[in-house]
Amino acid sequence: MTPKTFKIKNFGCQMNVYDGERMAELLGAQGMAPVAESEDSDLIVLNTCHIREKAAEKAYSDVGRLRRKDGSKPLIALAGCVAQAEGAEARRRSPMIDIVVGPQAYHRLPEMVAEASCGSTSVDTDMPAISKFDSLPARRHAAPSAFLTIQEGCDKFCTYCVVPYTRGAEISRPWGDILSEANALVDGGAREIVLLGQNVNAWQNDGRGLAELIRALAKIDGLARIRYTTSHPADMTDALVAAHGEIEKLMPYLHLPVQSGSSRVLKAMNRSHTVETYLATIERMRAARPDIAISGDFIVGFPGETEEDFEATLRIVDAVRYASAYSFKYSARPGTPAAVMEDQISRDIMDDRLQRLQANINEHQLAFNRSKVGVNTQVLIERKGKHEGQMIGRSPWLQSVHVETDSKPGDIVDVTLVAAGPNSMTGAVRQKVAA
Ligand code: 5AD
Ligand code: SF4
Repeated sequence: MTPKTFKIKNFGCQMNVYDGERMAELLGAQGMAPVAESEDSDLIVLNTCHIREKAAEKAYSDVGRLRRKDGSKPLIALAGCVAQAEGAEARRRSPMIDIVVGPQAYHRLPEMVAEASCGSTSVDTDMPAISKFDSLPARRHAAPSAFLTIQEGCDKFCTYCVVPYTRGAEISRPWGDILSEANALVDGGAREIVLLGQNVNAWQNDGRGLAELIRALAKIDGLARIRYTTSHPADMTDALVAAHGEIEKLMPYLHLPVQSGSSRVLKAMNRSHTVETYLATIERMRAARPDIAISGDFIVGFPGETEEDFEATLRIVDAVRYASAYSFKYSARPGTPAAVMEDQISRDIMDDRLQRLQANINEHQLAFNRSKVGVNTQVLIERKGKHEGQMIGRSPWLQSVHVETDSKPGDIVDVTLVAAGPNSMTGAVRQKVAA
């Protein structure tokens, strides 16, 4: 039977959200309709993430749960990084899976769905260049803040990370393709574009780098804000740093993972930066854009991490004064060099370190939010809040801001930030800015 409805379940990073949107557009272009509940869907796409935890096991148990109450099952597509890592093995481990589609092959999804609905199964985890983007339908509708993938893959080979294996080598989308997709997103309602890439600041095309791309995007009428994520410290060029001081539409926010505050651990992680070079980059950023909000990622319990190393991580949090940060317990990923290193750290020690690190990060986040109380700024309204008349949007520093207003998603409102919580701000409207 040809499937008529679909449901995409996204896990993991923003790039999966982007891929999920594009798969939805592809299936929509085939006349299929999205549904809210898995139970009602003819096709379910599990868009998986492989970066931490027992990702594959979780995906297989998710698949198992898709059997319907009457014993039948929908068509099941395993997509994303678990699909890439498992390949044909996925079908052997779970015969309920009909389609295995890696992140570089999802433009073939409609074809694979057609084959699967005739009873044959298909697996495509090839990693060609960035050709998939050429086969996707044009974009029509966009959220006020829209994602745009400009770069994929990673050549950095941090010793704990699966990304270079699941997403392949670094590739950059061409300049012209990005500009036309950005224009389509703005025509479709986007006011903000978030440029995505595993190493977004490694983007380059025809000798041009991310700073030049951002300059060109900033000329698009109707586009009010530009962000990019995730950056590697090694690729923070002078031109990109300078762009933060010069391009008004480029928001004062930078996600720059450091992972550890110990240069010894950073070396074992193959991070290619030290504590000193990282802090020097933060200083350059603050010189260019003094109000910049810095965010980061941390791993606790990397093999061989001592209490002293960990305390150095607490110190770098104090030195940078992060506006927000994500922290994770080290998770051994099969096939990565760190998985076979000696001195794996026990769960208990990891739990304790994660708790202490998060307490420290939370303090800095609250301090950052409090430092913005009384500040006049603008909020891009994104969605309705819990209460009648309440809307939620983002400040330039990516804080979530609650505002009482009759504005709609996509409006940009002038507010005074009047109160700070650990995870959000309250804004009071000053006046609506003409769109
Ligand atoms: N274990 C724990 N955290 C990891 N990350 C990447 N690989 C691992 C791993 N094996 C974290 C890093 C990265 C973020 C996206 O996920 O902090 O920046
Ligand atoms: Fe993974 Fe390191 Fe590449 Fe980031 S830079 S994707 S952590 S290998």
